[in-house]
Amino acid sequence: MISRIPWWLRVTLLFFIAFGLMEYFIDSGDQPAFMAYPITQLFLLLVLLLLIAVELIVQAIERIMFQTLSKEAQERYLAEKNKKWEWTWGKKIYQQLTRSKSIEREGEIVLDHNYDGIRELDNVLPPWWVYMFYATILFGVVYLVRFHIVNDYTQAEEYENQVAEARIAIEEYKRTAKNLVDVNTVALLTDASDLKAGEKIFTMNCVVCHMADGGGGIGPNLTDEYWILGGGIKNVFRTISEGGRDGKGMVAWKNSLKPVEMAQVASYLLQFQGTEPADPKAPEGEIWVDPDAPEEEKIIEQAKDSTVSVNPN
Ligand code: HEC
Repeated sequence: MISRIPWWLRVTLLFFIAFGLMEYFIDSGDQPAFMAYPITQLFLLLVLLLLIAVELIVQAIERIMFQTLSKEAQERYLAEKNKKWEWTWGKKIYQQLTRSKSIEREGEIVLDHNYDGIRELDNVLPPWWVYMFYATILFGVVYLVRFHIVNDYTQAEEYENQVAEARIAIEEYKRTAKNLVDVNTVALLTDASDLKAGEKIFTMNCVVCHMADGGGGIGPNLTDEYWILGGGIKNVFRTISEGGRDGKGMVAWKNSLKPVEMAQVASYLLQFQGTEPADPKAPEGEIWVDPDAPEEEKIIEQAKDSTVSVNPN
């Protein structure tokens, strides 16, 4: 078969295969190897010359061999060489699947009736069609037994299963797609990279009013456990996203920060909890108790709360 490809195409093909292999095996960073190492250009040139040389030698040998053949052998050789390549097994399979008669042999299956010159061929049903027909019968039987006799599985169940699977997939997707967080799904981020990003956002946007250490200025103190608008990641996220009470100066950041950025900065500023800022602003709001915290902690928090109210400062 290879000898049926014209020689120039064969040389080009082999040359590009060599070229591809070279690029694959030589590690040359983001530049192609033939630019990174000029010596490889020499190598490619050599490969090309070698291929052409081999081609010429093969042709020369062929010509000499041809001369040595007898007259009829020469004819046979030429006939073989010029024969068109045929896809024999493909044709055979096609023939088996259709079992059609060639036009030359149609006479064998023509029926005797003749309507004004229009005649009919008695073709067999093509096997591809017959097998498919059997397959549908088999399918029908299995279906009948499974869904009408055994009845172990209904459409409704299938639907439920698929919905459940899809829900899991959605949850999975939301967990990986950080940008989809909203106030309902946001969770405290603890990755160093997220907190670092949060710090950057805080320094750029929030420090003017809340101070770098969260001690507070125009905005309230973020280090104490008193919150005007509620503590915990969800409330803080909502405050950042929707802004504070009207006219207080805390704008809604959802227009300038992406959801993931708000989650990052919220997680970052929650780290201020319990730290000692240089110049803390007096507490504002109320002590916030996490409703999801374990029971014990809640009791402690509430005990603190009551001391505060009995003895305010
Ligand atoms: C222009 C000043 C200003 C800037 C800038 C600012 N804030 Fe505020 N922030 C405030 C004020 C004022 C409040 C109090 C809002 C209220 O009382 O309703 C507040 C409240 C908050 C609260 C709620 C505190 C509580 O006690 O409930 C959080 C959380 C908060 N800011 C985070 C941020 C973050 C994060 C940024 C930066 C993306 C930011 N703030 C930028 C002024 C600011």
